[in-house]
Amino acid sequence: MTGPEVLSVAAEIFPLVKTGGLADVAGALPLALAREGVRVTTLVPGYPAVMAALEDSTEVHRFADLMDGEARLLRARAGALELLVINAPHLYDRPGNPYLKGPGEPWPDNGLRYGALAKVAAEIGLGLLADYRPAVIQAHDWHAALTPAYLFYARRKDRRLKAPPVVLSIHNLAFQGLFPAELLGKLGLPPEALAVEGVEYWGDIGFLKAGIQFADQVTTVSPSYAAEITTEDGGMGLGGLLKARAKRLVGILNGIDDDVWNPQTDPDISARYSAQTIEQRAINKLALQAKFGLRPDPEAPLFGILSRLTDQKGVDLLLGALPVLFGEGAQLIVCGQGEPRYEAAFAEAAERHPGSMGRYLGYREELAHLIQAGADAILAPSRFEPCGLTQLCAMRYGAVPVVSRTGGLSDTIIDANTAGIARSAATGVQFAPATQDMLEDAIRRTCALYRDPVSWRRVQLNAMASDSSWRVSAAEYASLFRKLSARSAINRAADAAKTGSASGEPRSFAPVGGAVDPDGPERASPQAAVTRSAPRKAAARGATKA
Ligand code: ADP
Ligand code: GLC
Repeated sequence: MTGPEVLSVAAEIFPLVKTGGLADVAGALPLALAREGVRVTTLVPGYPAVMAALEDSTEVHRFADLMDGEARLLRARAGALELLVINAPHLYDRPGNPYLKGPGEPWPDNGLRYGALAKVAAEIGLGLLADYRPAVIQAHDWHAALTPAYLFYARRKDRRLKAPPVVLSIHNLAFQGLFPAELLGKLGLPPEALAVEGVEYWGDIGFLKAGIQFADQVTTVSPSYAAEITTEDGGMGLGGLLKARAKRLVGILNGIDDDVWNPQTDPDISARYSAQTIEQRAINKLALQAKFGLRPDPEAPLFGILSRLTDQKGVDLLLGALPVLFGEGAQLIVCGQGEPRYEAAFAEAAERHPGSMGRYLGYREELAHLIQAGADAILAPSRFEPCGLTQLCAMRYGAVPVVSRTGGLSDTIIDANTAGIARSAATGVQFAPATQDMLEDAIRRTCALYRDPVSWRRVQLNAMASDSSWRVSAAEYASLFRKLSARSAINRAADAAKTGSASGEPRSFAPVGGAVDPDGPERASPQAAVTRSAPRKAAARGATKA
């Protein structure tokens, strides 16, 4: 079945630019959707790494002034990815982490940099390009979340405009994109947008809030997280608004690209293997131990953690639990970067435990693969986790995930309790709540399980047999996109033009806002829905996606 043209709008995309799972999803989902007959073009900022990767690039539009500078819109490919790229050197020609000027220091003009991304997405939706008009826009995270707001105010000004429906996909509610209200004019939004039912959020402009407010559909990356974010605690200040939009909120579990993450073909590991040759993992374990100067001990349980080093990821709990981990005779490899205090604490711990602990404080894709292939267990003691991809990769590589029971971690891992093992269902170790005590307990349980080789192997093989691919979830996205597209004004108009029918205009055509009337009354009173907690604190969490 052929599906609608989807414009995906993302601030990062694997393999061009990546700070975390958002890039993985933005890079893999289009390929998985292609198999469902849905064609995806991704709009991305022209960072140096993106510009360097472009093939067959052609200019399709020129902006005389995009947030205070000239810009060009390019159509290009990068491998299998079809891209639209905003070449705006004044906004994006900066090396390194896309969001940060220095460690923990966001670029001061991030509001304009990502406002531009959303603005261009909206213009494309409104028909900027003669030969390309998406039937649906998928806006990822706060960086793209102003897209439906731009469409709403454009259509409020000119009711003849037709806009495609927008799906806002929330990957992490902790990053909300809050900017001073004074930016409104520069962003090109009208004064009336600075209102509770507009983009205003406790005196600031809230990009994510605006997206939730105006999107035709909101998705997030696991069913459990979809439920958690409608609560006061999990909603990080936006729980009320999300609850008010609950009918338009759905959790669709992430997958992983099983070509990129495949232990049978992985070029970055020392020995390739499958479930049938799982004993080959021992070679990767030895290689890892050698690389990090650990005792070359095949019997010591080797834990790995591959993570942003932030509060979200519960790495402080792990720091506290180190005596228990080493007391069990286990080893640890930390590969991550993030808050300087955590980097320092892990560096110091590694100094104190030579032969038992190694660390790489940075971001290295190929090392992530070797750790997945050689570690016995992968830790994810997150306080909250929208989905999490490292536990999915771990399962595919036969590393046993040790995870807190939250968000996507609870949706993807089955605990190795007695019943789980007896029924050959267990795929990892789960603990709750995310406290140091419970993590210590989980580490002890993991080590005990490791010392029972039959049960351990069973859990590894169960994990390797689970389907962590995009197949099921891509089909869910495809069906959502089809549904939205079928109801959209643009699509009906196009169909009408094709068939010569006069009734191109949908009966439910919204007077203002997206092409589909999102949900009428349930979004009528957002102010009551925005709860009073500390949005700034929530938005400041984590180091890389600010
Ligand atoms: P998040 O997006 O919250 O950081 P996810 O688990 O969804 O968490 O995705 C993290 C992605 O980043 C995974 O692909 C993981 O392998 C990768 N990753 C995390 N830390 C590192 C690192 N230090 N080096 C290489 N890859 C990393
Ligand atoms: C976010 C979340 C993570 C999720 C990823 C991709 O960064 O923290 O849980 O897997 O996005 O959706």
